[in-house]
Amino acid sequence: MNKNLNRRDFLRVNAAGVTGLAIAGSGLSSVWSQNTAAASEQTPQPVSGDALKPVRIGFVGTGNRGRGLMSNLLSMKGVQIPAVCDINPDALAAAQNIVVQAGQSKPGSYSGPLEYQKLMEREDLDAVIIASPWDLHTPMALYSMKAGKITGVEVPIAYTLEECMQLIETWEQTGTDCMMLENWSFRPDNLAVLNMIRQGLLGEITHTHCAYSHDCIDHWYFDANTGNDRWGADFLIKHNRCQYPTHQQGPVLSWMNINCGDYYDTLTSTATDCFSIYEYFKRRFPDHPNGKRKYAQGDIVTTVVRTKKGKSIVINFDMQSPRPYDNRWTVQGTAGIYNEQRNSVYLVGKSPQYHQWEPFDPYHEKHQHQWAQSSFGGHGGADGIMLSRFVDAVRFKKPLPLNLYDGVLMSAIGPLSEMSIAQGGKSIEVPDFTKGKWQTRKPGFAIEG
Ligand SMILES: NC(=O)c1ccc[n+]([C@@H]2O[C@H](COP(=O)([O-])OP(=O)(O)OC[C@H]3O[C@@H](n4cnc5c(N)ncnc54)[C@H](O)[C@@H]3O)[C@@H](O)[C@H]2O)c1
Repeated sequence: MNKNLNRRDFLRVNAAGVTGLAIAGSGLSSVWSQNTAAASEQTPQPVSGDALKPVRIGFVGTGNRGRGLMSNLLSMKGVQIPAVCDINPDALAAAQNIVVQAGQSKPGSYSGPLEYQKLMEREDLDAVIIASPWDLHTPMALYSMKAGKITGVEVPIAYTLEECMQLIETWEQTGTDCMMLENWSFRPDNLAVLNMIRQGLLGEITHTHCAYSHDCIDHWYFDANTGNDRWGADFLIKHNRCQYPTHQQGPVLSWMNINCGDYYDTLTSTATDCFSIYEYFKRRFPDHPNGKRKYAQGDIVTTVVRTKKGKSIVINFDMQSPRPYDNRWTVQGTAGIYNEQRNSVYLVGKSPQYHQWEPFDPYHEKHQHQWAQSSFGGHGGADGIMLSRFVDAVRFKKPLPLNLYDGVLMSAIGPLSEMSIAQGGKSIEVPDFTKGKWQTRKPGFAIEG
């Protein structure tokens, strides 16, 4: 929250936003859907007020996601984008155009596989955002931190365990802050659930379930029109793992105080064989060679984590089966349960009928997080909240909103699940990236206004 803002004014604005949601809301998922619609339409209000020094951000990787993040940032007051980098000239030109269309000077451009280093060395940048392919996230983030730039990196922030270690070491050595841009941690309904948990409404959290079930085979891994490889296809050929492990876990870490009171102890992972890629090619591109080669990746990967404090988490991964999008978050506590798919809760001593679900919407409304005020942009407003907090942290030299321990642990599920699958579902010990600090660290996510 802007320290210059009058706190009472802030709460009034926030309360008005919540009331607006309540009036709009009717039906099971109305608060969420209205919030989504409102979020994408409303003019974003800068968290930090108007008359502030600009925050200057350089962009590396200006493909679909990079340009989406840029557009969100450019709609916030006081954000400048003086430099962009991409190896694809079309993506680079499109990014420059977005900046010019927003009324800013044409940004400096960098192309070529290592040109990002020159961008990161510029003196006129406060921060760098990286939205490149997965295997480039860590090398780029390491360079950026070493160049002294506060760094935001798309998901997953690391692809190997070695990269996880390198990130933590460099972060600790340089003192330059870095965060994984896990937007689902910032989704308004997930933040409301966090508020409820912190108020004890669900009791002690014993178990969560989370999923990333998103059919990306027909546009993201393979070109929608030709069936040819996009960069992600290579990972499906070489690895059998929970390839995209962070959107599921984003809110779970804060719900369960992972890295600040509890920690992942062991995990087991099981994968199905690969079926759906072959069926997809049979249906869509029957003669394409991509439908005949071997893929390591199984259709569905189920990972079960046991925590040091005796809790459990199921993490589903599924990006190649034909299906609508789903996260299936469930939070079980000793005093109740939240179920995202049903948009319902059951709370002992509160829910009107014994063992009957009741709608989540009134709870969402009542326990709306302060951060939901800056909800705008993609992913139901989560992108706007995340970027507002990122900019606020850079501007006021505060810690970034999502700790790097969180980004690294979420990402580590990728390589750890691959190890377990390769050994027939063997239980794998999770490395302690905090070096024991999880035992004494206090929860920090979404605590400040
Ligand atoms: N958080 C989210 O909700 C979300 C959504 C979509 C994608 N993503 C993540 O964003 C990242 C980018 O995904 P995308 O869909 O935009 O892919 P994309 O292919 O559209 O964009 C990636 C860009 O990186 C560029 N690039 C490749 N090598 C480079 C280099 N050496 N230097 C500079 N640029 C380079 C490519 O040319 C391309 O333009 C991925 O890591 C993905 O997982 C996150």
